[in-house]
Formats: sequence, structure tokens, C-alpha cells
Amino acid sequence: MESVLSLKSVSFAAQNALVVEEANLEIEAGKTTAFVGPSGGGKSTLLKLSAGLLIPSGGEVLYQGRDIALMNRLQNLEFRRESAFVFQDSALWANQSLFQTLELPLRIHFPQMSRVERQRRIEDVMSAVGYKRSLAVRPANLSMGEQKLIAFGRAMLCGPKLLFLDEWTESLDDNAAQRLIALVKQQQSRNNTVVFVSHKPQIIRELADCAVMVAGGRIRGRLAGDQLKTGGDLLDLLERDPAEKDGEG
Ligand SMILES: Nc1ncnc2c1ncn2[C@@H]1O[C@H](COP(=O)(O)OP(=O)(O)O)[C@@H](O)[C@H]1O
Ligand SMILES: [Mg+2]
Repeated sequence: MESVLSLKSVSFAAQNALVVEEANLEIEAGKTTAFVGPSGGGKSTLLKLSAGLLIPSGGEVLYQGRDIALMNRLQNLEFRRESAFVFQDSALWANQSLFQTLELPLRIHFPQMSRVERQRRIEDVMSAVGYKRSLAVRPANLSMGEQKLIAFGRAMLCGPKLLFLDEWTESLDDNAAQRLIALVKQQQSRNNTVVFVSHKPQIIRELADCAVMVAGGRIRGRLAGDQLKTGGDLLDLLERDPAEKDGEG
């Protein structure tokens, strides 16, 4: 197997406590990995560490063999263009219109793109995620679900090879969720890599090649293949009492 991301003994400390501890993980290129586990277990932190949005306090995260924390400006810019992140709280710019927010990644990564081309690209992506209302408003005018659509659309704008999605179907109605699921499948059909956090067994089964259990800041287990797609192994993993697993360390 070819790893696109390697986490080597990754730890992350916040306010003198270890939020992630000694995580070792290989993310396979072209595959979809799901992080599962209880609230507060460290999934979002591990996802941000994997995406290079947080720098580990110990260990290293390698993208195609290169330590993200040690990348120079150009390497970092290239990594940013190739990867995209949907935040659990959407993280849209509060004081900018949606259009300005969506234009920004295109301006940064495709400086040669004309305003007309940017507009067309944004319209295409908004139609793919199913957002039909005005882009002139600010995020505060939107429901949580609509904010998720914009955040997902922003992530798709630059054609990412590596997509990180945190609780990306929360607060969405079934139609909207199905539309985003179809976009993830499109990424898969293009052999792109997806890493996502979800609590929904149905979505994990439908999309993931591998599920990684994160609880108490540690990686507690991994399911792949038949164990994930059939039988009760996934439900066991999702329902296992995290306190029980704290015995390991
Ligand atoms: N920057 C931070 N400062 C303090 N505590 C944090 C910070 N980031 C995360 N935590 C804590 O680490 C734990 C794991 O958080 P998180 O990764 O968001 O978990 P999950 O996504 O699994 O719900 C939580 O208890 C959270 O409060
Ligand atoms: Mg989270």
C-alpha cells in the first residue's frame, strides 16, 4: 500500500493536557478513512493534525514522505492547494460575504484566473452542493445546514486531491446529505484521498475503506474490508465503552 499521509508518534498538547497521544497511522492514497469515536475523544484534533492545520507537539506528520511542519513556503502552498478541509463548525468568515469567502481560495491558488472564470467556478460548485440562495449575504444569515453546504463547496473549489471532512453531514436534510455523499463518491472515482469524521454507521459503511477508532486521545482500533462492510463489528466499535479502553494506557 502507498501512504499519502503518515502519522508517526503524533501527540498534541493543549493547556498542559495531551489531547492526542502517540498516534501512529498510515492514510492510504486514493482510499477513504473514517475517524470514529465518542465526543471529546480527539477526532477533530487528529483530523487537523493530519491536515497540517495543527502542528504536533511531538512526533511528525508526513505528506508524501515530507514533514508538513518543515515544509518551505512553496511546498506548503502546494500542499494547501492539493488539500481541503470542511470544519465541524463550517468556519466561514463572519465579516465577509459568501462570495468573498469563496473567491479567496481561487485568488490564492489560481491568481491568473479571471473574475468571470472565478464566478463560473463558484456557480458550478454551488449548484453541485445544492445551494441556491444569494451569495451576497454573510454566514450569520444562513442556517447551520446552509453553512455546511458553503463550507463543503469552498473545499471543492480548487479540485482537492486530499479532502478532510469533519462531521460534514450534521444539520443537513437527507437530500443535501445525499448530494454531498455523491460528491465524496466523485472524489473516490478520481482516486483522491478522503479522511472524514462521522457518527453515522450507514455513511461510514457506504463510503469508508477503513474506520479508525479514536477515544481518550488515542487510536484504539481499526476496521477494514469485510469487518467494516458487513456484520456487527462496526457497531461494536462505535458502541464500545471508551472508559473500558482507557485500560490500555
Ligand atoms: N486547543 C485546545 N485547548 C484545550 N482543549 C482542547 C483544545 N482542542 C481540543 N481540546 C480538548 O481535547 C478533547 C478532544 O477534542 P476534539 O478533538 O474536538 O474531540 P472530538 O472531535 O472527538 O469531539 C476535548 O476534550 C477538547 O475539549
Ligand atoms: Mg469533533
